[in-house]
Amino acid sequence: MEQAQRKIWIVDFGSQYTQLITRKTRELGYSSAIVTLDEVREEFDKGHRPECLVLSGGPDSLATDKTDYGFLFDKNIPTLGICYGLQIMANHFGGHVAPGTIGEYGHAEIILKNDFKLKNCPEHFHVWMSHFDHVEKVPAGFNLIMESDNGMVAGIRDIDRGLMGLQFHPEVEHSSYGREILRYFYEEVASLKEDWNRLEMLKEATDLVKAIGDAKVLCAFSGGVDSLVAATLAHNVIGSNLYCFFVDNGLLRPQDHGHIETLKKHTPLNIEIIDAKEIFLSKLKGVKDPEEKRKIIGHTFIEVFEEKVHSFEADHQIKFEYLLQGTLYPDVIESTSPHKKGGKSVTIKSHHNVGGLPERMKLQLLEPLRYLFKDEGRKIGEELGLKHDWVYRHPFPGPGIGIRVLGELKEESIDKVGQSDQILLEEMLAFNVYNSVAQAFTVLLPVKTVGVKGDGRAYEEVICLRLVSTTDYMTATWSDLPRDFLSRVSSRITNEVKGVTRVVYDITSKPPGTIEWE
Ligand code: XMP
Repeated sequence: MEQAQRKIWIVDFGSQYTQLITRKTRELGYSSAIVTLDEVREEFDKGHRPECLVLSGGPDSLATDKTDYGFLFDKNIPTLGICYGLQIMANHFGGHVAPGTIGEYGHAEIILKNDFKLKNCPEHFHVWMSHFDHVEKVPAGFNLIMESDNGMVAGIRDIDRGLMGLQFHPEVEHSSYGREILRYFYEEVASLKEDWNRLEMLKEATDLVKAIGDAKVLCAFSGGVDSLVAATLAHNVIGSNLYCFFVDNGLLRPQDHGHIETLKKHTPLNIEIIDAKEIFLSKLKGVKDPEEKRKIIGHTFIEVFEEKVHSFEADHQIKFEYLLQGTLYPDVIESTSPHKKGGKSVTIKSHHNVGGLPERMKLQLLEPLRYLFKDEGRKIGEELGLKHDWVYRHPFPGPGIGIRVLGELKEESIDKVGQSDQILLEEMLAFNVYNSVAQAFTVLLPVKTVGVKGDGRAYEEVICLRLVSTTDYMTATWSDLPRDFLSRVSSRITNEVKGVTRVVYDITSKPPGTIEWE
């Protein structure tokens, strides 16, 4: 584990909420890392200790899981057990965990017991539960501090040994007072001092860049927040040893051209724009299938990039050693968690990214944001002095308009999406709704419908507006926006974009829809 110095180790038993524990913990000001059981064993063997352990929930049951978890408890480290973590703790200290006659899933009411008081928290409140097994007998030395309205053990605590267990999930938004409960544990049970803030994050990320010395670094720059923050941070350390290459694949919106020009002008980054429109569009000619389009765009990107870099190296007599990427913590966890790795996952869409580049070009990876969540990356961006609008810009997928013109890509179709997107952007800014949605774009549907323009019949195409609210992009809801705004966007698109007579609004959540249409 690269993060043995973190104050809090969050041991992942496979809960879908483990990342949220880390996030909430960091928001409260404590450094934390997600670790696997094997990593804990290895680090303990090396003599490393955290100041506190949090055991996550998980899908297992003690009825079948006979692992000896004693090693987690015999070092007297303050520990919080959540859901399955509570059951492991209760079982280890001599309590009894049994299958329930009923499970508790979803909302439950909690009652504080035995004079237990929590600052800023009432005696009854709602929380989010997801369990079938439950603690039937509280272990000796522990007090019952919370009970559910079904009369089940919901919280236990042994303040002398710094131990606490919760049957519910304080880390999810649906649990009211979850933050206060976590704060209570860290402050009052584990007696931790805060150590995580934006300066600390920036220092750590900067140290990762400093470690490479004076090597030449290449960045596949997209102008999106992650690559912009990573590049700015790296530039502060290594200056002109950083080279940013931006590939114009011909599938950009007017706002992307504007953005990259602005960054070129108003940041010290050395940004080289590679004009590859023709090659992309010629390879995509006649291709209708979304997966095929995605693959062609991905491969072409790598080809174009590689060729450009080789010629650049030859022309400038330099050799790149590192590829800088804006990889974030969720991607890192995704690839290391034993519960997620190797599972049978179905490919919904092949994402376009630069994953194939490092091996092909024999480059080492430099990922200064690899321990941060997106909102933490944004905070660092602000700390580095990047403009708010740049740092809070909506994401834009690598394949761009290529997956927003459904079916075959033609230049006039790409223009229709570009123009309608620009109208949508202008109106979002005018109506002040840009920051209230997570992503917003237009899609050209491959159908024609009948309309009337002037006194004549029109038989033209349809633009769909897609605006969603989400924080993690894994699930999303469609955004419910003011009618005036929608009506204005619709009338401007039908009036100003040639060949479009109809505008529709997508009211599909994810799941079952995805955010993009292809
Ligand atoms: P979906 O459509 O899968 O999108 O719900 C989730 C988020 O991912 C973005 N997206 C991509 N980003 N390369 C990217 O860099 C891709 O190939 C890609 N496909 C989807 C999408 O815009 C949304 O933010």
